[in-house]
Amino acid sequence: MELETLYDLYLHELRDLYSAEQQLIKALPKMSKAATNRQLSAGFNQHLQQTKEHVRRLEQMFERLEESSRGPKCEGMEGLIAEGDKMAKEDAEDEVRDAGLIAAAQRVEHYEIAGYGCARTYAELLGDKTGARLLNTTLKEEAETDKKLTKLAKLAINLDAMYVPRAGKKNGDGALTQKAKKLMAKLAG
Ligand SMILES: [Fe+2]
Ligand SMILES: [Fe+2]
Repeated sequence: MELETLYDLYLHELRDLYSAEQQLIKALPKMSKAATNRQLSAGFNQHLQQTKEHVRRLEQMFERLEESSRGPKCEGMEGLIAEGDKMAKEDAEDEVRDAGLIAAAQRVEHYEIAGYGCARTYAELLGDKTGARLLNTTLKEEAETDKKLTKLAKLAINLDAMYVPRAGKKNGDGALTQKAKKLMAKLAG
């Protein structure tokens, strides 16, 4: 039995988070490159730096516990990153793609928040105070990132996306202008 105790589950969760964070280190530069909005692009880069620190914190925990960090690949994060990657490559208006990148990134943050929240609870139950503190520090940064993304979406990016005219409508307006021009030409004789 691999998961006999809560401690085994604690380690399992830490290794899952470690895999998730390492995958993110590779994914965030691509998200940053795909973003058109400069603030969003810079935000992804800033979170990349934080993510590197998240990896270091987890490494510190494995060292303290004298356990290996090796574990299976986090499949949940793999799926979320694949969706983000798809959005980055989508044939879309820049503003709309940016809004989609935020939606993908917020899914990632919520996934991390769930993982860190559970791991912190196990740390507290097992009396690993330092572990709980380290996990809580990262948890706060994930929550702050999520909030920043919401703010950026609400104040700018969702609005920019909203004002991109629908293709059908644009053509419709164009056709209408053409009609009006013809009519005016007719009236003018
Ligand atoms: Fe993280
Ligand atoms: Fe994160």
